[in-house]
Amino acid sequence: MRVLVLHGPNLNLLGERDPSLYGSRTLDEVNELISAEARSLGLDVCCEQYNGEGAIIDALHGARKQYAAVVINPGAYAHYSYAIADAITAIGIPVIEVHLSNIAAREAFRRKSVTASACRGVVSGVGTAGYVLALRALAGILEK
Ligand code: DQA
Repeated sequence: MRVLVLHGPNLNLLGERDPSLYGSRTLDEVNELISAEARSLGLDVCCEQYNGEGAIIDALHGARKQYAAVVINPGAYAHYSYAIADAITAIGIPVIEVHLSNIAAREAFRRKSVTASACRGVVSGVGTAGYVLALRALAGILEK
């Protein structure tokens, strides 16, 4: 089973960007953690990062034929990209949204995710463990 992990804008700066909110691991280190968990679950994972909305939408479209499921951290696009929400709905495979920080406990504009309702589920506020939990949830969903 192949799973695509999509990291959205500014997540390439993990480790240096506001570590009190997003942790001190770099994106490469986070991807290592994701890959190790995927291996132990018997999932074949591919991790990609895009800053642009169109690139994320293209990756979602491409995923529908090549992957069984997607984990996405849409970054700030979560708060206003109806185009990404539509793409998630359109591809028809399970998608789980992850946020490192607890978006419900932050500034008003971050409390709403317009992409969340297009997703199978959301994990927010538990740091990089969110990716691990999302993969575990998908392993269960894909097994059924
Ligand atoms: C984020 C939360 C977003 O509000 C923010 O714009 C990000 C990261 C998170 O993982 O907590 O870039 O998605």
